[in-house]
Amino acid sequence: MAKEKILITCALPYVNNIPHLGNIIQVLSADVFARYQKHTDNEVLYVCGTDEHGTTTETIAMREGLTPKEVCDKYYKIHKDIYEWFNVSFSHFGRTSTKYHHEITQDIFLKAYNNGYIIEKDLEQPFCGKCNKYLADRFVEGTCPNCGSHNARGDQCEDCSKVLDAKELLDPHCTICGGKTEIRSSKHLFVDLPKLSERLREWAEDKMNWSQNARNFTLGWLNEGLEPRCITRDLEWGVKVPLEGWEHKVFYVWFDACIGYISITAEYCALNGTDWRSWWKDPETKLYQFMGKDNVPFHTILFPASLMAADDGYILVHQLSSTEYLNYEGGAFSKSRNRGIFGTDVLNSKIPVDVWRYYIYINRPEKSDVDFTWEDFQKRNNEELVGNLGNFIYRAQTFAKKYYSGKVPEVEDQDADVAFNEEVYSTLAEIGQNIGSTKLKSGLKLAMKLSKMGNQFFQENEPWKNEERKANTVKTALNLCATLAVAIEPFMPVTSEKIWKGLNLKGDVHTLNWERARSPAFKGGESINSPEILFQKLEDKFINDLKDRYSGKKKQEAKDLIEYEDFAKCKFKVARIESAERVEGSKKLLRMMIDLGSEKRQLVAGLAEHYEPDEMVGKSIIVVANLKPAKLFGLESQGMLLAAEKGNKVRLLTIDGEIEPGAEIR
Ligand code: MF3
Ligand code: ZN
Repeated sequence: MAKEKILITCALPYVNNIPHLGNIIQVLSADVFARYQKHTDNEVLYVCGTDEHGTTTETIAMREGLTPKEVCDKYYKIHKDIYEWFNVSFSHFGRTSTKYHHEITQDIFLKAYNNGYIIEKDLEQPFCGKCNKYLADRFVEGTCPNCGSHNARGDQCEDCSKVLDAKELLDPHCTICGGKTEIRSSKHLFVDLPKLSERLREWAEDKMNWSQNARNFTLGWLNEGLEPRCITRDLEWGVKVPLEGWEHKVFYVWFDACIGYISITAEYCALNGTDWRSWWKDPETKLYQFMGKDNVPFHTILFPASLMAADDGYILVHQLSSTEYLNYEGGAFSKSRNRGIFGTDVLNSKIPVDVWRYYIYINRPEKSDVDFTWEDFQKRNNEELVGNLGNFIYRAQTFAKKYYSGKVPEVEDQDADVAFNEEVYSTLAEIGQNIGSTKLKSGLKLAMKLSKMGNQFFQENEPWKNEERKANTVKTALNLCATLAVAIEPFMPVTSEKIWKGLNLKGDVHTLNWERARSPAFKGGESINSPEILFQKLEDKFINDLKDRYSGKKKQEAKDLIEYEDFAKCKFKVARIESAERVEGSKKLLRMMIDLGSEKRQLVAGLAEHYEPDEMVGKSIIVVANLKPAKLFGLESQGMLLAAEKGNKVRLLTIDGEIEPGAEIR
């Protein structure tokens, strides 16, 4: 077969989180494909890396008191460690904050610009005067025009779920500083998608090899008609727009992220003294891209459009494999609620990596969403890995040890099991075809079928009592073990190597050519090693503990427990309210002067919708006296009062009876 150039990518994970199992599917999907390609004559490159720009990175930096670069460094390492643990065979795991990335992004943009595919338009956006910042819609809060709830954000109302435009929000304010926001208009750059839409359609229409959901989304978008797409943002962190007068804008993260595939290749090639253009500008290269369904339009419309607009010889995606979602025990994964399994949990689970890999592949959500359940996880481990695969390999080696003192038996009739072997090798070929056409789940199912064939072969031939068939049965079974090691390598590389070494076979099972693996590994007479247990049963108690731990409930409780020292750090004191008034311009805030015994202080609190100022005066309340002062609406609040809150109701904590202001609460 002619040698092909196979370039593989998986969606670049956002740097600002810890990936959960659903995210990790993408990295692993591309990994099976890449590992399989290493068993062919093809030249393979698998690139991935962190997607580092965008508003979220800036916001997290602010929240964690770090610079965006520091946030990225921190999470880059977390991601890298997780994928390493999973034995993902990246050629290179890069990031989008490199100089290669900035240069190539700007270059592609400038070419598209010079070719007339970039247009300028005004865009109205929320702006916070105090922060001196344009805000992404979700960073604006206010009153919902639909239901009147105060829990509405610029993109959606939390309470009635109506999708909103930041312009519609009543009484809008900034979630960062609390200040009022206004709508301001500013200039932005757009990719002229309508101008590219015919070219996109011609190109996409015959892509029958894309996954069905990818085709549907893409043709759906094209049929609805494309609009110019804004590719600039008012942020600091990102790739700067290389045009005069645009110094204060950066590219929209989705514009630069996909170019990350190219720039990460460029960094890799620079490290190896090769030229990245030999991958990205050679029409012979076949680009295979793996991603979740929500990423599809960016890869079939926006990214190809940018490359078409640049008109600089870039290749476009050949095969696109997109999955549906993986859910967790009937719901979504949620880091904030600690619900579900995240990369860092997997590393601490004490469950071997190949069990995780197996579970993910055998459940890969190829046609519809799939639910992760611990019950299914346990069952598949115990029945399929322990009961089927592990059992077959163990039995084969045990028979060799028991009847042939650890040697592959020599047989008289070399052709006795020809038909069986033929079926084995044709199944191996079929596994390769499946993986090669990104039907990963079917590939793994076939590999498990091979192992099942092995177990049945023992049942039918009964080597423990059928003397005539004994030698051939054991030899054929051992050959099947070798084939199995090869067949599962892309999915479970650690187990594959264990089997291979257990059989005392030479060569590298990770790079062995599958064409050449289609003949028996053993002739007879070779020594093999003693059997080893490959997989352990997962017991109920162990699984139930894990289920509890990741349910989002238990973990929350444990996380919420604090040490007495933490509690003792808060100085609660009794204070008497001496005066209270509304803060001008704010619906919610009251300004109070309080008597703390030894001193007077000013407090600002969001009580105006719950108390009349007059009702407050004279009350003995409880305040946190050693809280750092905070500014609300430009007024300093020198402490915080305690109140109970439920739904729309807020009530103050007051003292039951007489006690002097300044009294400590313990
Ligand atoms: N970071 C995005 C996500 O996790 C995917 C970006 S894919 C890229 O959804 F190619 F644009 F980087
Ligand atoms: Zn603000």
